[in-house]
Parts: sequence; C-alpha cells; structure tokens
Amino acid sequence: MDQSKIWKGNWTFVLAAAGAAVGLGNIWKFPYLAGESGGGAFVIVYLLCILLLGLPIMIAEIYIGRYGRKSPINSVKRIINDFNLNKLWLILGWLGALAGLLILSYYSVIAGIAASYIFSSIPASELNPAEYSVEHYSNFKSSPLTMIFWHSLFIGVTCYVVGKGVVDGIGRAINILMPILFFLVIVLCIYSSVTGEFIKTFTFLFNPDFSKITPEVVITAMGQAFFTLSIGMGSIMAYGAYMPQEQMIGKTVLIVIFLDTLVALLAGFTIFPIVFSNPELSVFVGKGLLFESLPVAFHSMPLGAIFHSIFFILVSIAALSSSVSLIEPFTAWIEEEKIFSRLKGVIILGLIAWFIGLGTVFSDNIWANYEISGLNFFEWTTVLTDQFMLPLGGLLICLLVGFFIPRVELEKDLNLTGNISKVFSVCLKIVAPLSVLLIFGYALS
Ligand code: PFF
Repeated sequence: MDQSKIWKGNWTFVLAAAGAAVGLGNIWKFPYLAGESGGGAFVIVYLLCILLLGLPIMIAEIYIGRYGRKSPINSVKRIINDFNLNKLWLILGWLGALAGLLILSYYSVIAGIAASYIFSSIPASELNPAEYSVEHYSNFKSSPLTMIFWHSLFIGVTCYVVGKGVVDGIGRAINILMPILFFLVIVLCIYSSVTGEFIKTFTFLFNPDFSKITPEVVITAMGQAFFTLSIGMGSIMAYGAYMPQEQMIGKTVLIVIFLDTLVALLAGFTIFPIVFSNPELSVFVGKGLLFESLPVAFHSMPLGAIFHSIFFILVSIAALSSSVSLIEPFTAWIEEEKIFSRLKGVIILGLIAWFIGLGTVFSDNIWANYEISGLNFFEWTTVLTDQFMLPLGGLLICLLVGFFIPRVELEKDLNLTGNISKVFSVCLKIVAPLSVLLIFGYALS
C-alpha cells in the first residue's frame, strides 16, 4: 500500500472503527433483542460474548488487515502466501464479502425507517402519544412503496459515499457528528431514566433470570456481539489496513469495545424506562421497539419535536458510517483487482443489496404470512448473517491468527509480552473458538 494512505495519529482509526461499530446495532437492535429475549438473561450472555469473543477476535481481525494492508480478501491472500498456507483460507475473505452484502440489504431498510422518522414526530396536541406512535409505525410498515423509497434513498447515499472513498467521503463528518450523537444519547438516557421507570429497567437488564437462558437466547446474544462490534466479516479488517504500524491494537480495541457497549446500554436505559411507563408499549414487539417508544419520550419533552428530528438525523448518520463499512471490503477488492472502477463496483454491489433488501421490506407487509420454520425473510437474513456467517468468520479468524501466525511475529506486532501474551494466545486458540463451537452446538441441540 501507498504509505501516504496510512492514517496519521491514533484517533483516526478509533473513530473509524467506532463509526463502523456504533450504529443501528446499538440503538435499534440491542434494545429489541434484549426485550424479546428476557432482558438480563440475554444481557449477561451478550456481555460475556463481547469479552471472551469480541476482544480477541477484533484484535486478530485488525492484525490481519494491518499485516496485509489491502482489502480483506487480498490481506488474507497475502497471509496465505507469506506463511505458505492452504488456499482454502480465502473462504474467510469471501464469506465476509457476502455477509456484508446480506447485512446491508436489511440494514438499509431499517436505516431508511430511521431516516423517515426525521420528519415524523408526534403532534404536540396528541393526547395518547403511545397509541399514536404504535399506529404510525404500523402504517409505515404496511406500505411497501414508502419503505422501498427510504430503503433506496439510504442505499443510494451509502453507495455515493463509498464511491467517493470512505475516508474522504465521510471521515470528517463522522468526527464531529458521532460525539454529538453520543452526547445526545446520554442526555436522553438521563431524561428518560428520571421521568420513566428507571428501577424496573435496571432490574430488567441486570437481574438475570437464569432459567431464561435458552439455546436461542445464547445464540442470539452471540450473534449480536459479533454484529454490534462489526467483527467476523472483514469490516474492521478493512480499516486495519490503514492503521499506523506503531499503534497499539490491544488498547485501541479496548476503547472501541468500551464505547460500543456503553452506547448499547445507554440506549437500553433510554428506551426501557419509556416502555415500562406506558401500558400501550411492550418490550416484546421486536424490531419496531425503537420506533414506537422513543417518539413518546420526545413528545413529553420541552422542544421535543426538535430533539426528535436531531436524534433521528444522528441515528441515520451513525447508520451510514456503519453501512459504508459493510460494503467497503468488497468494493475495495473490486477496485484493487481492477475489475471495475470503485464507483461502478459499488453501484453493482449496492443494486444487489437493494434487491435482496426488498425481501425485508415485504416481510412487513405482502410477505408477512410467509414463514419458513417460523421465521420470515428478514428474520432468516439476520439469523444467517449474525448467528452463522459472522461467528463462522470469527472462528476462522481466531484459528488463522492463533495457529498459523508464528507467536514471535504476533508478539512483536501486537506489542505483547509475558503473561498478557499467554492469555491472549489461550483466548485466541482455545477460549474463543471453543465458545463459538459450543454455542453452535448448543443452538442446534
Ligand atoms: N456494527 C454495526 C451496528 O452495530 O450497527 C453493524 C455492522 C457494521 C455489522 C459493519 C457488521 C459490519 F461489518
């Protein structure tokens, strides 16, 4: 890689990785999965997965990217060549590229809903805001054309940004907007905890009922840990290619993981107090939870309509900084291999993701009754990607780095010494792969 492309300073990588990690996964998905899967039981497994799987896998993934300094597929290829490994490892790169497209397909539909909410706060005169909110979401999702409009708009903007080159296209905007979102989520969290049911929320999220830990809850929590951290598919690997050689990967990863988990928990403490204090709202509603509950809080707030719009603008931008990282690895590979120009490549990939996304749009309306094994199209896409492809990618990453990169090489590049190096090695070779395998086995049991 051209050395001038490597990012200067440590913060650029942190912000890019946090931009990829913090998104709908934290603000939309974490609360709804926690709600559906029994609160504390889900949260405890989720936090364990973040620590035991997320930490070592993210380090290993960034390592591969920084070592290869190319798109994920070609970085893996470089490792294969340099260490004389079997070509089958390339599956890792391809699996990730495909997972990125599939995730983008539904991510864009949900991000489209968030973007449409910029313009739809609850009217101030409304006497029953919770009922209004539930009805508004229900009307929105029953119209495929409206959903397709916003889905197309969001994918169009994603492709535009990636076409321009991620760093120039969005880097600077993110540096300013992400901290604002972070600040706003803290303010919202305080508001809703003070005005809503804080104690009930705390008990719901942190007092696990262990009898609720079922195979389904465990695999959902693992999938969410991979999804929220953007690991297992090359997205963080692609950014690793730009990380300065002297930057400490371990410390950086700790910061990214901390920020990501904090935003998810804050989102939980913003949404659940509202849900618990409004009998019209339920924690079990699934993917509409964010869209049904938050507008109710804005409705009761001074200047709520303005906060409502600002919040959904920022959520759309956080989603954008994640969606670009979903399609970047594949696009970078197309550009490197000179198959098409970056712009042409991203347009083709965007169209594919757009088309698959129609399945998610229709899951809410014209295909609402079509289910296979109890899951609709949207649910199948999430299960396939979060609960299967990302963990499988993560497993391969652990095995590749843990067993096939010489330990001295790793210690030198990761700046590891003594006990820390030993612990990392055990996590990478045993704890993380075994956990993924056990969870896969448990889920199938
Ligand atoms: N981590 C992102 C979120 O929480 O919204 C979603 C995501 C981005 C998943 C990039 C996977 C990925 F590669």
